[in-house]
Amino acid sequence: MALYIRKIQLSDVNQVTEIDREAFSTQWPPPNYKREMQNGLSHHVVIIDDTVMARSEEQDSGNSRATGLITRIGRWLGFYRQTDGDKETEYIIGFAGLWIIADEAHVTAIAVREKYRGRKIGALLMVALIDLAVQLKARSLTLEVRVSNKVAQNLYTKFGFKEVGLRRGYYTDNREDAVLMSTEGIDSASFQERLEQLKQDYLRTSKQILRENIFTGNL
Ligand SMILES: CC(C)(COP(=O)(O)OP(=O)(O)OC[C@H]1O[C@@H](n2cnc3c(N)ncnc32)[C@H](O)[C@@H]1OP(=O)(O)O)[C@@H](O)C(=O)NCCC(=O)NCCS
Repeated sequence: MALYIRKIQLSDVNQVTEIDREAFSTQWPPPNYKREMQNGLSHHVVIIDDTVMARSEEQDSGNSRATGLITRIGRWLGFYRQTDGDKETEYIIGFAGLWIIADEAHVTAIAVREKYRGRKIGALLMVALIDLAVQLKARSLTLEVRVSNKVAQNLYTKFGFKEVGLRRGYYTDNREDAVLMSTEGIDSASFQERLEQLKQDYLRTSKQILRENIFTGNL
């Protein structure tokens, strides 16, 4: 895989909604991501697998599929740069979002396509989300997570979140409780040191190609 992360764009809304439905199908209605994008408090990032092209109307014809392959090979060889015209064919494999309220960033969603889970994509998204929160001058992150969602809780704990409370019957679909989790000051030296360590561990162990410098790009 060759991965990169960038801010959400309008052309991403269909794929993001598709990933949302796969991850949170019991939560109804689904968020309106187009409307979210018009909300100045809301911020989303998407992660893209550059070696896969998303199915688009153009790709439905044999000729266009061949053209797509040539473009992809051209990109690998460095002949083509990503242009605006290519964007609808970018294949989004996960996304994450937050709301900035005063100096607090509230994580609203993080999801990875099922077939890509367990490959550190969620961890990469978490790094991007924390970097984004720092850029937006947030001082801490908070979130709610289902008591049964141990995978997500492990991910958050790894990034320095701690349990700070319980919201009883928070989820409307099955009245499940939510664990409230929060970080210390994300601009503190100890938090940044831990984040840097996680980034280095990831770079050391990852067999994936991270296109551009995924950890230092300005989101
Ligand atoms: C939660 C989610 C985003 C994690 O993404 P992912 O790409 O599969 O996770 P990663 O491979 O990056 O793993 C990161 C950490 O998550 C935890 N984790 C991931 N898979 C796990 C598993 N099967 N069991 C236990 N912990 C797991 C681990 O702490 C892991 O770190 P480690 O590999 O160093 O131990 C993904 O499972 C998902 O989209 N779930 C559905 C949506 C959801 O529940 N979102 C959270 C809502 S609050």
